[in-house]
Amino acid sequence: MMDAYAIAALLLLCGYILHKVRHMHILVHTLRDDTRHGNATLFRQLEALQGLYVSLGLRRALPLTRGWAASPDFLQELAAHALDEKPRCVVECSSGISTLVLARCLQLNGAGMVYSLEHDPLYARRTRRQLELHGLSAWATVIDAPLTGQAVGGGQQLWYDCSGLPLVMPIDMLVIDGPPQAIGQHARYPAGPILFPRLAPGAMVFLDDAERPGERAALQRWSLEFPHLDVQSLPCEKGAAAMRWAQAAS
Ligand SMILES: C[S@@+](CC[C@H](N)C(=O)[O-])C[C@H]1O[C@@H](n2cnc3c(N)ncnc32)[C@H](O)[C@@H]1O
Repeated sequence: MMDAYAIAALLLLCGYILHKVRHMHILVHTLRDDTRHGNATLFRQLEALQGLYVSLGLRRALPLTRGWAASPDFLQELAAHALDEKPRCVVECSSGISTLVLARCLQLNGAGMVYSLEHDPLYARRTRRQLELHGLSAWATVIDAPLTGQAVGGGQQLWYDCSGLPLVMPIDMLVIDGPPQAIGQHARYPAGPILFPRLAPGAMVFLDDAERPGERAALQRWSLEFPHLDVQSLPCEKGAAAMRWAQAAS
């Protein structure tokens, strides 16, 4: 006959084992869902990358598109717009693969120029080198634009020194993928007050990383400050937004 202590100990052990089994059951299901989601995301990026190579007819490989680079699905949105609407003056905040993709679109369109603001001289040189290797130097200019204190939104904030950006043409397409978040959560907000007044009527603005708190806050502020900005979210890996500058010519 088991005494009461032995029965209590057995019950405790059974309870502990049940708790562990339940914990493992939840872990397995979470892992399965994460794996499915991860595979779907990866597959989507591979499809987007393959689509880019086809629609841009690239003869050389693009640099790797993980980490800091714009994701293939965002690049595909940029290319689709640039090939459809044939913008003449494209400005982007931060250079990299997006510069190559946009320059190739303009080369295929046969007109236009990409002006890419880059704060880091190392990455400016790398992007220029990639443009050379791809035979695209005539379609994009990487502008050395150090981050300097600028008066925006009632305060001072670091943003690109735009003095190298030509003033001659209104901007038809603006891509905001910098400065990096490391300089502050609201790093990208100044693009609105500084560059939106230079947009052509009907111009399109693309924002990468739109799901991050700083970018969501920037979108909200821009919507309040520029009520004619028509904002749509894009289903991209890192979150993205497309904004039509609906203001008519004055
Ligand atoms: C989000 S990244 C720019 C991505 C760019 N639009 C592209 O499509 O590749 C923003 C900035 O990060 C810097 N950067 C780019 N690659 C980097 C890397 N591997 N490590 C650290 N900084 C990087 C560059 O100065 C760039 O302007």
